[in-house]
Amino acid sequence: MKAVLNAFFVLSIIVLAILGCKGDEGPAGPTGSRGLDWPGVTPAAYDSADGIAGGVAYSKWWVTEAGGSGTQPATTASADFYRCKSCHGWDGLGNSGSYANRTGQSTGTATRPDVSWTNLRSAISSESYQELYDLVSHVGARGIDAADNAHPGFSRYLSNSQIWNIVKFMREEWVDPNLLYDITVTGPAMHWDYSVAPPVLVKPTVTYSNLGALGNESSGQTLYTSRCSSCHGADGSTLTIEGMSLGQFVRTKPNEAWFKAKFGVDGTAMNPGIVTSTSDLQNLYAALVDTANFPNHP
Ligand code: HEC
Ligand code: HEC
Repeated sequence: MKAVLNAFFVLSIIVLAILGCKGDEGPAGPTGSRGLDWPGVTPAAYDSADGIAGGVAYSKWWVTEAGGSGTQPATTASADFYRCKSCHGWDGLGNSGSYANRTGQSTGTATRPDVSWTNLRSAISSESYQELYDLVSHVGARGIDAADNAHPGFSRYLSNSQIWNIVKFMREEWVDPNLLYDITVTGPAMHWDYSVAPPVLVKPTVTYSNLGALGNESSGQTLYTSRCSSCHGADGSTLTIEGMSLGQFVRTKPNEAWFKAKFGVDGTAMNPGIVTSTSDLQNLYAALVDTANFPNHP
């Protein structure tokens, strides 16, 4: 019996060791054992990468601002099936963050992928530069023209420098959500309840609080007046965004608003992005959260 247990133990270690190795060997990267060398030596390609262009690519990698060709791939499946943010969320937390209650093809919205269970924010604090490159590039993975929930094989569609830009974005330009707001996800993970007829989709509740709590409201107001009000108006109501005023958009989608302010929205007047410093973003949130100064759209 003891021998059987020992054999089982050894087998488990082997299985765990195999599960622990991910990705293929990428091009020359940091020296040392992959996974044991975090954060590793920065590869030269990483040093010269552009993290802001990487942030744009996280939203839409084919636009020229992201180093892309400027031509959106012609696919039958919607762009959401190959945009990083659609599967991983603006916050990178996947289905444990702001996209916890966002539906996908198996939960009621056929045109969108299911949000991934992976947590990219923990990946960036545990993987070496080279590993991150390999994970994004995912050599040999699926093509992009499919309504598929798996991570696409981006090595076929993005240049090496675009992928390094994304790695740099993830490491250096991706603002930790906790610095801008608190997020609480309550209730069970999204699922169909088949105990009732017809089945009901059960979704968790996502709540944001303490928006801009680490910022300074009057500095944010000053910044807003000098950098944003010419287009958005003194009280943020000149442009309507998804039917909302700017203040309302920030209060409703704090997970997304900072990303647009920092990386811009291609094809609009707000391109490139405007505010890159995290403390400026914190100050802006502190100002825009005020419903008296930045009221909801009537
Ligand atoms: C259609 C959904 C989808 C899209 C689009 C997508 N991913 Fe993924 N990604 C996944 C899933 C699911 C996983 C988990 C493992 C897998 O499927 O290979 C993953 C895994 C990863 C990982 C590894 C995480 C870990 O902890 O091992 C990284 C890094 C990553 N994705 C980054 C990106 C980036 C950057 C983009 C855009 C260039 C992107 N993903 C686009 C679904 C997607
Ligand atoms: C030159 C004009 C201009 C300036 C300056 C500007 N914006 Fe915008 N902004 C726009 C336009 C146009 C849109 C609408 C984009 C669209 O149609 O989605 C927009 C949209 C947005 C959005 C929503 C993005 C989305 O999802 O569509 C946010 C958030 C935002 N702006 C924040 C800011 C902040 C914060 C500032 C100041 C730091 C700022 N903007 C300065 C023109 C501007």
